[in-house]
Amino acid sequence: MASPTTTRPAAGDKGTFVREMFARIAPRYDAANRVLTAGMDERWRKRAIALLAPPSGGTVLDLCCGTGDVVFHLLRTDPTLHVTGVDFCAPMLDGARARAPKEARGEASFVEGDVMALPFADASFDGATMGFSLRNVVDIDHVLREILRVLKPGARFVNLDVSKAPNKLWKRMFDLYFYGVVPLVGGIVGGSKQAYTYLPNSLTNHPNADELRARFERAGFANAGFERIMGGTIAAHYGTKPAGTQS
Ligand SMILES: C[S@@+](CC[C@H](N)C(=O)[O-])C[C@H]1O[C@@H](n2cnc3c(N)ncnc32)[C@H](O)[C@@H]1O
Repeated sequence: MASPTTTRPAAGDKGTFVREMFARIAPRYDAANRVLTAGMDERWRKRAIALLAPPSGGTVLDLCCGTGDVVFHLLRTDPTLHVTGVDFCAPMLDGARARAPKEARGEASFVEGDVMALPFADASFDGATMGFSLRNVVDIDHVLREILRVLKPGARFVNLDVSKAPNKLWKRMFDLYFYGVVPLVGGIVGGSKQAYTYLPNSLTNHPNADELRARFERAGFANAGFERIMGGTIAAHYGTKPAGTQS
């Protein structure tokens, strides 16, 4: 299913910047995540997996897998799945591989690669997920088309990420937390104030939930939609590769 591990350079300066930033915070990424979300990210990931509902025994690709949180959740939900995580940051993948013997309740493999040019054949996967990463890619529309390419017809993609809350009060409260607390606490626990300042700022120019749904549609996903979580500060977007399309 997966072609041999490739190390493609990320397109553009943003890719290089993002990869180097995650390399710096990789050793403390999991600890910082748990502290910054007070462990609630576990519930959001479970919801995303419930929306994916992959077929038993199927193949699932987790894009930008980082240290493997979504991969291990998928396998805890259904150990018959064959889950591949792909990420372009070697130290994040090292973290995932180190966790796998304890946490992978089934078949997990990790591949180094750039989601801008996925190292997989057309129509390889029964489902795909992405957690907290779409804001970081160089070209969202291109990545969405790449995901469609590697999905089998009828397979679903679910993207879980922070989003812009529609309610002004919720948004203001979240902004205080996201732009104020995250850089401070992330700097202490995660070890890089610069990285945890970049991460919230990456939401500023990101499309809101409705716009992102429209981008899913434009890329060619059928039944595109989204579910708001935590008052819309988190969103799970989904879409299906239309039946009858191969690549
Ligand atoms: C915020 S972390 C999310 C990790 C994991 N999905 C999670 O939910 O914890 C973002 C990840 O995206 C990866 N990433 C960003 N751009 C990428 C790209 N173009 N190709 C592959 N991985 C990428 C980074 O290396 C990093 O591991």
